[in-house]
Amino acid sequence: MSRLIVISNRVSVPKAAGAAGAQGGLAVALNSALRENRGIWFGWSGQETEEFTGHLDMQRNDGVTTATIDLEPQDIEEYYNGYANRTLWPLFHYRIDLTEYDRNFGEGYERVNRRFADSVRPLIDQDDLVWVHDYHLLPLGSMLRTQGMKNRMGLFLHTPWPPTRLLVSLPFHERLVESMLAYDVIGFQTEEWLGSFLHYLEKEMGLEIGADGCVEYQGRRIVARAFPIGIDFAEFTEGANSPEAAEAHDKLKASVRGRKILIGVDRLDYSKGLGERFESFSRFLADNPEEASKAVLLQIAPPSRGDVASYQQIREDLERKTGHINGAHADVAFVPIRYVNRGYPRRQLAGFYRAAEVGLVTPLRDGMNLVAKEYVAAQKPDNPGVLILSQFAGAALQMEDALLVNPHSLEHVSETIKLALNMPIAERRARHEKLLASVRDEDVVHWREQFVKALFGSPCGTDHGEDALA
Ligand code: ADP
Ligand code: F6P
Repeated sequence: MSRLIVISNRVSVPKAAGAAGAQGGLAVALNSALRENRGIWFGWSGQETEEFTGHLDMQRNDGVTTATIDLEPQDIEEYYNGYANRTLWPLFHYRIDLTEYDRNFGEGYERVNRRFADSVRPLIDQDDLVWVHDYHLLPLGSMLRTQGMKNRMGLFLHTPWPPTRLLVSLPFHERLVESMLAYDVIGFQTEEWLGSFLHYLEKEMGLEIGADGCVEYQGRRIVARAFPIGIDFAEFTEGANSPEAAEAHDKLKASVRGRKILIGVDRLDYSKGLGERFESFSRFLADNPEEASKAVLLQIAPPSRGDVASYQQIREDLERKTGHINGAHADVAFVPIRYVNRGYPRRQLAGFYRAAEVGLVTPLRDGMNLVAKEYVAAQKPDNPGVLILSQFAGAALQMEDALLVNPHSLEHVSETIKLALNMPIAERRARHEKLLASVRDEDVVHWREQFVKALFGSPCGTDHGEDALA
């Protein structure tokens, strides 16, 4: 039986369900796949070491084996803070204004990908399936191929893929994309990001895309497809019905004393459109004085990537904006925005979602956005809240029954907030029912099964038979 080897920048070991900020659906789904397939999850420990040794810290927790390495400060600076989060992340989120091109970042990225390849190679057996995740590790597959690895290898990108005209601003973009063609399966969140990738292959590399999505390159056949990720629906709904969720729900409800709650839950990242969201809410307060004292925005935003200047900047901007808006609209017994910078256990989070009449999910660009799906899963079907969702989130393609908005238009978002807060119960139920069906049916287990099936079944070439992977 083939094993599954998962490789990602961060490794999430199983934790207690109540732990603060405990792992989300992705970690849960991958952990269960690894448990079923006796697999290994390999990545960076998140720890720093003075000098890189390649020492593997192997652990077995709850039936899952993890193998992690520590990285040197220079690696973390050039690979993680640098190329991954100051070059690729902004570029992939269409922010070329924030994209930094630095030769050291590129060199550090290649060095760390090679370190990943050298460290994980001895753990991989001949029949294992290798599944690499995200923009941190795009060239890893080609480095493993250079070492003679013939295994089936797949890559899944959790972020958007930018249009060709933006991507070509990246020095050595050809080298980066070419290196991705060492994988057998390349997965994207949506047809839109897939389309941009295929456009690049056609226009910049002159490759032909078959009707089956297969591409031939240097004698190998590669398939690129969309595999929209979902949440762990079963785990999340169970959490939403737990006593911890009920307690969080009741406490939050009591604290707002009858006002309606709009909730936002996002890593503190400029791609999430938090500044525009706050301003849209401020516009709503200004335009609707009769409703202003009846609504409160709860924004939960744990800090993220705090060593990167653009993240420090967004944090400062939001603090300033919150102070300004609260100063302009607060009363002695009323503060319109509650802005909280911390993580919560998932069950508490589910209780907060359930307490909120409106889920406000307005990223400027997002690969998928799982918060939108969690909000829907946490609602009570007989009295559900309304989801306001950015048209620029990957999730919008599956969630057309949300109120879709352009997050750049303060007027549009402000008017949609008014509509959501006043939506009749019948319409709320009808919209929620359809949203819930897609969140339930296209969950993270479905996503993982579809990807592994494509990886194992080799849609562009020889089939490996049915029974090797359970
Ligand atoms: P991204 O991967 O860009 O952070 P997603 O919306 O796809 O965006 O996923 C974010 C995940 O992080 C969700 O599962 C969400 O519940 C979780 N999360 C975000 N903020 C918090 C928080 N304050 N406490 C606990 N979990 C959080
Ligand atoms: O979804 C994008 C992503 O980079 C994930 O890969 C990661 O788990 C999450 O955002 C949090 O980012 P970071 O690992 O940089 O804290």
